[in-house]
Amino acid sequence: MTLDDEAIRTRIDGLLAEMTPEEKAGQLTQFFFFTLPPEAEDNPALGLEVAAQPRAVEAALARGGVGSLLFVTDPAQINRLQRAAVEGSRHGIPALFGFDVVHGLRTVLPVPIAMAASWDPALIEAGQAVAAAEARAVGIHWAFAPMVDIARDPRWGRIVEGAGEDPFLGSAVAAAQVRGFQGERIGAPGRIVAGPKHFAGYGYALGGRDYDEVSLGDADLWNVVLPPFKAAIDAGAGTVMTAYMALNGIPATGNRWLLTDVLREALGFDGFTVSDANATRNLTTHGFAPDLRSAASRALDAGLDMEMAITDPAFDHLPAALEAGEIDETQLDTAVRRVLEVKLRLGLFDDPYVDEDRARVVLADPAHREVAREAARRAAVLLRNEGGLLPLDAADLGSVAVLGPLADSARDTIGPWVFDFELAETVTVLDGIRDRLGDAVRVDSARGIPVGRRTFPSMFDMFGGNAPEDPEGFEPEAEFTRAIRLATDADVAVVVLGEWQNMIGEAASRSSLDLPGRQLELLQAVVATGTPTVLVVMNGRPLDLRWAAAHVPAVLDVWYPGSQGGAAVADLLFGDAVPGGKLPFTWPRSVGQVPIVYSNLTSHEPENLGRRYWDEASTPLFPFGHGLSYARFSYADLAVDTDTVALDGVVTVTATVRNESNHDGDEVVQLYLHQRTGTASRPVRELKGFERVMVAAGEERRVSFRVGPDERRYWNAGVRGYVLDPSVFDVWVGTDSTAPLGTTFTVTP
Ligand code: NOJ
Repeated sequence: MTLDDEAIRTRIDGLLAEMTPEEKAGQLTQFFFFTLPPEAEDNPALGLEVAAQPRAVEAALARGGVGSLLFVTDPAQINRLQRAAVEGSRHGIPALFGFDVVHGLRTVLPVPIAMAASWDPALIEAGQAVAAAEARAVGIHWAFAPMVDIARDPRWGRIVEGAGEDPFLGSAVAAAQVRGFQGERIGAPGRIVAGPKHFAGYGYALGGRDYDEVSLGDADLWNVVLPPFKAAIDAGAGTVMTAYMALNGIPATGNRWLLTDVLREALGFDGFTVSDANATRNLTTHGFAPDLRSAASRALDAGLDMEMAITDPAFDHLPAALEAGEIDETQLDTAVRRVLEVKLRLGLFDDPYVDEDRARVVLADPAHREVAREAARRAAVLLRNEGGLLPLDAADLGSVAVLGPLADSARDTIGPWVFDFELAETVTVLDGIRDRLGDAVRVDSARGIPVGRRTFPSMFDMFGGNAPEDPEGFEPEAEFTRAIRLATDADVAVVVLGEWQNMIGEAASRSSLDLPGRQLELLQAVVATGTPTVLVVMNGRPLDLRWAAAHVPAVLDVWYPGSQGGAAVADLLFGDAVPGGKLPFTWPRSVGQVPIVYSNLTSHEPENLGRRYWDEASTPLFPFGHGLSYARFSYADLAVDTDTVALDGVVTVTATVRNESNHDGDEVVQLYLHQRTGTASRPVRELKGFERVMVAAGEERRVSFRVGPDERRYWNAGVRGYVLDPSVFDVWVGTDSTAPLGTTFTVTP
């Protein structure tokens, strides 16, 4: 039953009138509930907090002290816990089950940065609709996703979870994900509530070190960081998660200006906010709140509605804070009202449980696997293809050597931030190539080198199966020699390298962008055999590929392509699909160039921009928006429909893209804008339009973009508000952020 606004208000008024402050605080509390592998329970390294956690939660459930739970994915377990929540609450209030549905549940889609590289909002929406269907089927109501943090420093491990460096692309991707998760409204059948995160600025961690403080200027905050949040909110996102770190000195979770003035008043958010895990308690760690009661009351006062806690929530102290007059009843009720509203809109009061039989059917849906495969095909970026080595012609091949430590690693193929995986269902690159070639072509494989290791364990290693292991009896030198022999004897070598998936994600920042372990050495030795070599890269951040970009003829970036990844890679390698993805970030030559973006400002001696470092070029290895195809595109006939417009006027920019090859292929047509003069110095180029189009061999397409006031408006630190400047504008349309085909138009005062 869908309730209207009036019915919801009446229902909540009734509940609030009956609830004690303790029950209200319970509704505002969310607990992790870990189901750890048996060996983990006795692992002292986990700390008592995690090991004791399930018992603490059961106790809280029994006294009606749990508004929400996270990290449970088994439908039977969800039903059991839900029963405890409903029965533990005097008012029968069901719990909301949340989870990090980041890129799929059982069907694993490519990682978010990969989905962004598709530059295909419809695909992204379809992908998250699959994730939502599977999550909802097991009883999950809410995704802690999308992560819409702009990331401009690839040392930061969480770059893999976002859409890259650009606010325009990031906004399109954010909105598409929210639509995919939620559908048309909160409570749409088979959908879940979206939770964009982390509000705000988390991607700007100092030195790329996860959780460290963020010092962010106003212009970047309003023009770069906030637009994807705004897009997610405009798409209807029901919740927003606060960030861990301090923004300009004030912890985000206790930052009233950020959570109220900016989030609610400026961005118009009217759902509920949740803190990141333990971030409310951590207001004490920040040296901000003296104790947990103060942390709780200051967070609530700032605009935080729900606390995500492992154990011992700060929000347990809200009744005492109320008693002491640190918060008032209206503040408490406002937060509870927001949480109950989402539960009511989801229909949970009428139907809190989940059908376990149906869950099995939904998780096994073959249509979901097809979306994952299509997504992996569309996300891949062809970085280099000298001499047209790709696509490979299967009919010409007698043997293929599939080499490298990631070639046959199912766990790495699906990437970070997945917990519900079925590795047996995952198609590795080796599996995909073998399936594609059948018995006609000989396919040999070797890892070549041992697994790469982190200097300290990943926080996710406790869940089991996350830390890579060498097989029993692995002998590095013999294996290396075998790999090189296979390469020598093969007609083509496919080398799959990158970062092991536990080297990227949360708490997985790096001080280097090198290929970890002995991977470069393996690649160099394979190339030295003289066998034509294709490098397939699995990654979520740009890596130092300077050597490969100069010596390996074909480089295909497949990211962590998900559970159908290997099938998609085979489709691409053998030409059954044509790569059309584009980089969602500027790819630096080395870590020393970080941060590097395409949208820098013009500055002193811009003509020397290529000479800013005396020991390295200032240009990237691959520009933002780069990505090749088996097709070859040319651009022509760039036109504006008017040379001059008023401040509120719209210019339509049109160009022709022509496919000069005999392959059909997709091209992402990109529009960049530059304001020449005004009340601030503006970026040399900014993406302001894109469209992924299929152009058949030998054909052409006219593509048009609308450049109106929304595309030209920006936040100006001088006047501390949005402005539209009159100016001459340069506009370019083309294949990446260096597109040469340009024209101008003038905006008059
Ligand atoms: C911490 C992460 O920062 C956040 O993104 C995630 O949603 C929560 N943990 C819950 O897993």
